[in-house]
Amino acid sequence: MFQILKREEMAHGTIILNEIKAPQIAKKAKPGQFVILMANERGERIPLTMADVNKEKGTITIIYMIIGKSTKLFASLKVGDCYSDVVGPLGQPTHIEKKGTVVCVGGGTGTAVLHPITRGMYQAGNRVISIVGARNKDYIILEQEMEKVSHELKICTDDGSKGRHGFVTDELKEILESQEVAEVVAIGPVPMMNAVSNLTRNYHVQTTVSLNPIMIDGTGMCGGCRVKIGGETKFACIDGPEFDGHKVDFEGLWRRLQAYRLEEEKANRAYESEV
Ligand code: FES
Repeated sequence: MFQILKREEMAHGTIILNEIKAPQIAKKAKPGQFVILMANERGERIPLTMADVNKEKGTITIIYMIIGKSTKLFASLKVGDCYSDVVGPLGQPTHIEKKGTVVCVGGGTGTAVLHPITRGMYQAGNRVISIVGARNKDYIILEQEMEKVSHELKICTDDGSKGRHGFVTDELKEILESQEVAEVVAIGPVPMMNAVSNLTRNYHVQTTVSLNPIMIDGTGMCGGCRVKIGGETKFACIDGPEFDGHKVDFEGLWRRLQAYRLEEEKANRAYESEV
């Protein structure tokens, strides 16, 4: 169960793609939904939105950045190894319909989550403009895949090594100034989704973001994933992970994401000294 059939390294080995055998999940999964994975029986439960699903092969694909102990444990798994548990599909699927022009904005590994949504928007008959941002050209992922499902693809890098030298919001502002946009979908680091939502608010353009709070059970029981949306408490695992970007309390989300930073650093150091 949950055997890794394919493992690919990107961005100098800092980003990993795993294709995992999970036929029951693949059968039901829709764009925007996520799974919770454990590397071993005592491992942390890590939520990751599926980057792809192959119903015929019965596989799901996840793409993650190696940042701490748990993702290092994930990265230590090779082709043929198995995750001890994968639960899903969880969360609400993306609402996809024909609206006109949709701008899909991806930052870092958020592009992996954005790709199936972009494909859905494209297949629904929307005119899709995609903007993919990263710190430098080596961290741009799925460029060709995004190109295939977009009418236009714009690249932005912080250091100017590829595409526009600047932020995704610089590119997005030009688009919003020059044409009518029905919806913006932004997925990436919290500061990026916050900046995109602040920008689109000025243009009154519907904006959807996908949130990544800490999750434990993934079923609405523990409250770990609570986020404030328009002043109301919501659980990202059952009400999300996608929400109206104009209503999200990004500061609160950021604070909660930092809450276990010291413990995470300690666990990471302990893991490093073990291996
Ligand atoms: Fe426990 Fe959402 S992860 S309520």
